Amino acid sequence: MPIVLIAGASRGIGLGLVDVHLEAGWHVHATTRDGLPPRVHPDVTPHRLDVRDRNHLETLLSDLDEPIDRIIHNAGIMRAPRADLMEVNAEAPVRVVDTLLESGRLKPDGTVAIMTSQMGARRGRSGGLGDYGDSKAALNDEFRRRSSKWRRLGAIAVVMHPGWVQTDMGGGGASLTVRESVEGIKKVLDDLRETDHGKFLTWDGRIHPW
Ligand SMILES: NC(=O)c1ccc[n+]([C@@H]2O[C@H](COP(=O)([O-])OP(=O)(O)OC[C@H]3O[C@@H](n4cnc5c(N)ncnc54)[C@H](OP(=O)(O)O)[C@@H]3O)[C@@H](O)[C@H]2O)c1
Repeated sequence: MPIVLIAGASRGIGLGLVDVHLEAGWHVHATTRDGLPPRVHPDVTPHRLDVRDRNHLETLLSDLDEPIDRIIHNAGIMRAPRADLMEVNAEAPVRVVDTLLESGRLKPDGTVAIMTSQMGARRGRSGGLGDYGDSKAALNDEFRRRSSKWRRLGAIAVVMHPGWVQTDMGGGGASLTVRESVEGIKKVLDDLRETDHGKFLTWDGRIHPW
């Protein structure tokens, strides 16, 4: 049974990712801020992780007793002060993934996806990105800086734009349902090859410009 860790699994895209992996027969280590399981299911192991909290991360590491096939860092925020956006969207994902990889929790050639946003892409933008876009651009920059190291640690890692999705963050008028987005994301991750490592991909498998 393949094993996935989903960080930020309580609702929205993260919860949808829990569901599609369960339906495909995966075991899911699901992290939420309160430690409650996002789904009560024999193949869901809940963990408490506020992605900003280093103590939670240490506890998660010691509780993960089996090597995992996939890490998805989904947690993110949009309407918040700039410092919080930078901490949650840019610093935390890199620290969480880096810690998991350095501690050998991912199987060789396991897949890693960090949820970024098209709002963090600089190409084609004439004005500023806004604080949210800046935080995702900083995430993308740090991802590219770590990319060689993460490959050496055995990961096939990408950053992903999930589309504009009907969640609390995306709003009801967004163009994609959670289901459409997460089915696309899972298919992209299932099809990842070593040559895809280091890319910025969309939910439907296209390369996104930086
Ligand atoms: N929806 C879109 O259109 C869209 C577009 C581009 C990119 N994205 C990205 O996709 C990801 C998921 O977005 P979404 O639309 O599903 O957002 P959402 O509905 O607002 O859900 C955000 C998730 O992140 C978790 N989270 C926030 N801060 C956290 C923290 N400090 N520690 C742990 N978990 C935390 C939330 O947990 P709580 O329930 O505890 O708050 C929740 O599970 C985000 O990274 C977002 O930036 C979304």
